[in-house]
Parts: sequence; C-alpha cells; structure tokens
Amino acid sequence: MPEHDAESLLSRKQIAPRDRLIVPLDVADNAAALALVEQLGEAVRFYKVGLELIIGGAFVDLVNALAARGKKVMLDGKFFDVPETVRAAVRQAGKHQVTFVTVHGNDEMLRAAVAEKTPGMQILAVTVLTSLDDADLRDLGFHVDVRALVRSRAKRALDIGCDGVVSSGQEAEDLRLRLGNQFLIVTPGIRPVKNVDDQKRTVDVEEAFQKGADYIVVGRPIRGAADPRAAAEAIQGRIAKIFA
Ligand code: C5P
Repeated sequence: MPEHDAESLLSRKQIAPRDRLIVPLDVADNAAALALVEQLGEAVRFYKVGLELIIGGAFVDLVNALAARGKKVMLDGKFFDVPETVRAAVRQAGKHQVTFVTVHGNDEMLRAAVAEKTPGMQILAVTVLTSLDDADLRDLGFHVDVRALVRSRAKRALDIGCDGVVSSGQEAEDLRLRLGNQFLIVTPGIRPVKNVDDQKRTVDVEEAFQKGADYIVVGRPIRGAADPRAAAEAIQGRIAKIFA
C-alpha cells in the first residue's frame, strides 16, 4: 500500500474552494428548489438534483434555471439499467449543462456512460449505497463485505474511465490510500456539528477533506438551519480555511 500522511490526502486539484460545497435540492418541485437557491444566493454555487426532484420537477427547466444563475449541477440519477439505456440517459444529460452524472452499475453500464460523456461532464460511480450493510449484501447474493466491494468497484470504475466516485468519508480515506489522488471523491453524510438525524457514517467538514474528499454534499444541516444562507457561508468559511 502506498504511504500517505494525513496532509497528502488533502485535495490539490484546481477546484475553486467555493465550488467544493454541493447542496442537494432534496425538495418536491422546481418552485421549492429555486426558492432555496435564491435564499442561498452566492453562498452556494453547486447543486445536486436527485430522484425526488427529477420526478417532481421539470428537470430540463430546472437545469436551465440553475445554469442561468451560474450554478453547477450534479445529476444524481444513479443510473442502473441495460447499457444502451444508460448510454441514452447520459447522452440526454449531455444536452444540458450538467457537470457530474452518477451511475450505479456494473462494468458494462459504466463503460456505456463513459462512452457518452460530453466535454465538461464527469461521470461518478456510486460504489455501494451507504444504506447497505454486510447483511444486505448477503441478501443480494454478494459474498463479500462492504469495504471489499467498495474497493473493487471503485478500482474498476476508475480503470473504465469514470472520473471519480461518491463515497462516505470513511471510504474516502481507504480509496485514496489504495487508488491514489487523481480521481474525484464526492462525499455526502457531512455533519458540521454533532449528528442528530439518520446519517450514521458521518464526518465533519474538516475531516472529510482531510480524508481525501474533493467535494462535500451537505443537505439538511444547511436546509434545516434557522438561517440556511448563514449556515452555508459558515461552511464555505471553513472550506476556505482548509484550502488557504
Ligand atoms: O441531508 P443530507 O446532508 O443527509 O443529504 C445528503 C445527500 O446526499 C442526500 O441527497 C442523499 O441522497 C445523498 N447521498 C447520501 N449518501 C450516499 C449518496 C448520496 O447521503 N451514499
């Protein structure tokens, strides 16, 4: 295993510090999404659009509205389908201003996604959903533990040409140490302060980046704050300090 000290896991990629915070628009429709975007203003430049809003909103209108406001978009569709359908979905995404697309499939699905990537788009592989544990994997017929499966799927995703992975803070460190610093790691499950909700494998802002994340995804700690914009700005302040 290559040796790294904690400092060497800190991302050295040319990413503007304020782009490193991704806020999920986990709301029911475009009106609610854009209200949140307005409320957060300049504090947030990167948004994640997931299944709830893809189904509840008019996705293309939303992406266009975000682009018009100068925002970046992570399309978290976790595509998992026959390769031709994954290929078609990524091709459709490429018609709009989408920066990250998530794919959650086997090698052939990942290959199909990578083949349709457009300039400026990056494909992120979801390795193993953080809601699955070793018992769930056995139920699904996998005779391997979560950690080993995450490692193996991440390695194959990168060999195939994916730009990175979505991974919890704990996995981030393990993947960096084994697979190097080149690929992207996007880390959800961030709790800036003591955790009180359903996310179990959480890390705080500093820890996530020290463990090798390039981007963090922070939802409820911002959305649920008394002053969401101040909460986002506080996190941006912490990120600025880490990358100063
Ligand atoms: O509100 P919270 O900060 O928990 O939001 C985290 C976001 O990241 C949600 O949109 C959730 O669906 C997503 N996510 C996650 N764990 C993963 C992949 C995505 O929490 N492994």
